[in-house]
Amino acid sequence: MKTIAILTSGGDAPGMNAAIRAVTRSALDRNMAVYGIRQGFQGLIDDHMIPLNAREVGGIIQIGGTFLGSARSKEFREDSGRSKALRNLATRGIDGLVVIGGNGSQTGSSMLSNLGFPVVGIASTIDNDLYGTDVTIGCDTAINVTLEAIDHLRTTGSSHTRAFLVETMGRDCGYLAMMAGLAGGAEVISTPEFEVPAVVIAERLRAAYERGKTHAIVVMAEGVKENAAHILAYFEKDRGMIGFELRATTLGHVVRGAPPTAFDRLLATRLGVAAIKSLGEGVSGVLIGEQRGEITRTPLGEIAGKTKPISTDLIELARVLAK
Ligand code: F6P
Repeated sequence: MKTIAILTSGGDAPGMNAAIRAVTRSALDRNMAVYGIRQGFQGLIDDHMIPLNAREVGGIIQIGGTFLGSARSKEFREDSGRSKALRNLATRGIDGLVVIGGNGSQTGSSMLSNLGFPVVGIASTIDNDLYGTDVTIGCDTAINVTLEAIDHLRTTGSSHTRAFLVETMGRDCGYLAMMAGLAGGAEVISTPEFEVPAVVIAERLRAAYERGKTHAIVVMAEGVKENAAHILAYFEKDRGMIGFELRATTLGHVVRGAPPTAFDRLLATRLGVAAIKSLGEGVSGVLIGEQRGEITRTPLGEIAGKTKPISTDLIELARVLAK
């Protein structure tokens, strides 16, 4: 393999830059030329590419987001879009592609791979909902940003004897909310997989109030049916039912734009190097992830369209600890 290209696709995630750096430098180390593709699969269709050398990926390891830009391309879902992409790859003499992204992006990788082009995916999304890996680049940082918000809200909550509803991202997956809630000592954690109804949230908050707590935290994943705004409106009807005054904070994209933690930088670096190793060995059509501490290669066809549920052990842990 002589020339490879890299793109970042879907929602950006802290650590994507570290992955671009690792892919580029390890490819250069194997005497491969490298192109960076702007704005994900859309840039591939539009032939929006730049050559990358070691210096161009310098000074980015500590920066969140992706300097190549990202997008969710509708055109790539069409046969005509993918044909254009293949033509551009052929014209530039590119023999391999690395796609850094989450579920939707790796479904795109799988489609291109099915057309016979060598593609390797790198698991990256703050949601950590990707099948074929225990962890994804960006999730640790998003957990830490959510956790910092929880810690701050607990402090102001204590001053005012308030409870806070904290809603974080994660799409249809509750992993981010669950891990931040556990680390933040939340009284209630509500996720799409195990949603806590408003009436049960009320009971738990009331019980915490009666036990003499000066604050309480409810962490909610954005994918729940009854989100923070809904629950706040529900309690408006009967403010006395929970004891505490109640406020809601929706974190949204704040959790996605932070500088990557050491964990995410290191994961991105290891997965980036492993992606080039895989292409160098002639193994493509796989997602590079980490399972039980080991770098793994899972066929893209196995992961497309699947998601990874959060474990029921975590739910039980949250129940036991919320005393
Ligand atoms: O998949 C990452 C993610 O941040 C989800 O947690 C969230 O639901 C979604 O992307 C938001 O997408 P957008 O940035 O397009 O609003």
